Amino acid sequence: MTTGFTIWFTGLSGAGKTTVSRIVEKELRARGYKVEVLDGDVVRENLSKGLGFSKEDRDTNIRRIGFVCELLTRNDVIAIAAAISPYRAIRDENRARVGGRFVEVYAKCPIDVLAERDVKGLYKKAIRGEIKNFTGIDDPYEAPENPEVTIESDKETPEQSAAKIIARLEELGYVK
Ligand code: ADX
Repeated sequence: MTTGFTIWFTGLSGAGKTTVSRIVEKELRARGYKVEVLDGDVVRENLSKGLGFSKEDRDTNIRRIGFVCELLTRNDVIAIAAAISPYRAIRDENRARVGGRFVEVYAKCPIDVLAERDVKGLYKKAIRGEIKNFTGIDDPYEAPENPEVTIESDKETPEQSAAKIIARLEELGYVK
């Protein structure tokens, strides 16, 4: 029996993908599952070192993450991806790639809240034009049309968001 699947977080920078993915990881490990997280910032330091933020480089980055998720998923590991992944078509390509065992989590948050929070100080720079092609400011973000779960960091705590995801995984029959 296959037990592996992929949890795919998508959303703007600072929307809570990393924080919530780490809580979900911890909870699934506590339940005895093998889990790996592929976080955008970490992947860009390793697997995707040297890639920038053009559409072409982002697509390459997201396809690489999808490739690793496929390997993990077919070996009964739960793969968790947490990258902006702004383009719908590439996310859907990855959904097909893992054989549909794919749970898309949309980390939704209004851009003004993110710009106000600005944890990494990048929104301020992007608004001033010091960083070009910043997702949500002067680069596109295509929100999912039918995500399995939507989490909202301006309305929920990270723990509440994680609990919502776990409940959905149970409902879908992926975890017990
Ligand atoms: S993705 O578009 O290829 O999925 P990824 O999640 O790996 O992006 O990396 C996003 C992170 O890179 C952001 O959280 C931010 O810290 C940093 N970053 C630097 N430049 C940009 C940019 N132009 N657009 C978005 N994020 C950027």
